[in-house]
Amino acid sequence: MGKVHFLLFFILWLNIEGNEANVCDSWAADAVYAGDGMCMTLNRTVMTLPQAKDMCLTQFGGHVAELRTEYQRQTVMSLIDATGARIVWIGASDEANEEEWLWLSNNDHAHIHSEWWASLQPDNHNGVEHCLVMELTQLRDRSCSKTYSTTCQKYIGNPCDGVLSGAEYYNGSCFKAVVENMTIDVAQDRCENMGAFLAEPNSADLKEFLALFAGMSFSQGENVLLGLTMTPPDDKFRRLSTGDSVDTTNWLIGTLSDLPRMHMEH
Ligand SMILES: *[C@@H]1O[C@H](CO)[C@@H](O)[C@H](O)[C@H]1NC(C)=O
Ligand SMILES: *[C@@H]1O[C@H](CO)[C@@H](O)[C@H](O)[C@H]1NC(C)=O
Ligand SMILES: *[C@@H]1O[C@H](CO)[C@@H](O)[C@H](O)[C@H]1NC(C)=O
Repeated sequence: MGKVHFLLFFILWLNIEGNEANVCDSWAADAVYAGDGMCMTLNRTVMTLPQAKDMCLTQFGGHVAELRTEYQRQTVMSLIDATGARIVWIGASDEANEEEWLWLSNNDHAHIHSEWWASLQPDNHNGVEHCLVMELTQLRDRSCSKTYSTTCQKYIGNPCDGVLSGAEYYNGSCFKAVVENMTIDVAQDRCENMGAFLAEPNSADLKEFLALFAGMSFSQGENVLLGLTMTPPDDKFRRLSTGDSVDTTNWLIGTLSDLPRMHMEH
C-alpha cells in the first residue's frame, strides 16, 4: 500500500418495503430521488407559474421544484435531459423585492450561486421577470405568466434515516461518506462492522451518483476508496464483495480514473 492515504465510502444494502428499488415510485410514475428525502417529477405540459404551483399541489401534493442542494440542481438537469423538456419552472420568485429570490414553498431566502445563472442573467427584462426557470442547465429570470414545463417535488423522508445515520439513499441502498484517511484493509473492516461494504460502482448510473456524492462530501482533490479492484489477466474491474466483473464500456463520463476525486484501489 505504501504511503497512499484514502478516504472512503460505505455502502449498505437496504430492504425497502415491497422490494421497491426506487422509493419515489409510490409517489409518482417516473419520479426520481433528489437527495435529503426529496422526490422530483417533470410534467412536460406548458403552463404559467401560478398554474404550475396549482398543478404540483393538486396532481402530486407537492411544490414546484427548488434548488436547495447541488443534488436537487443535478436532478432537475437530468430530468430535463431525460424528458427533452427544454425549459422548466423552478420554485422561486423575486416578486416581493427585486433581486431578493425566495423559495416558493416557505419563503426562505433562496441562495442561488452566481455560476448557476446563464450569462447576463438575471436581467429583469422589461421589469417583469420575477420568476425563475432552468433552461437546459442554466437559470434565467422570466415573466411568471409565460408558459413552460414544470418540475414538481415532494418530501417523502430519507429512507436511510434510522438505518445508517448521515447516509444518503440511492436506488435501494444507503451511502455514507467517511472523511478519514485509512488503508483499504481498515476501510473494509470498518464497513463490515456496520454490516456494509465499500461502495462498488457497478453501473454508469451508480458511478454518476457516487461522483455527485463525492463532490458534496469530500474536499476537492481527496482520493476516495471504492470496492472495485482491477485484476489480471484481463485487467477488468471486479467487485470486492462478489468478484463479479464490472462492464465499464458504457460509462457516460469515461472511466473512474477520469474523476479526479475518485481513485480505484488496484
Ligand atoms: C400535467 O399537467 C397538466 C396540466 O395541469 C395536467 O392536465 C396533467 O394531468 C399533468 N400530468 C401529470 C402526469 O400529472
Ligand atoms: C437499481 O438497482 C437495481 C437492482 O440492483 C438495478 O437492476 C438497476 O439497474 C439500478 N438502477 C439504477 C438507475 O441504478
Ligand atoms: C488525508 O491525507 C492527505 C494527505 O496526507 C491530507 O492532505 C488530507 O487533508 C487528509 N484528510 C483528512 C480528512 O484527514
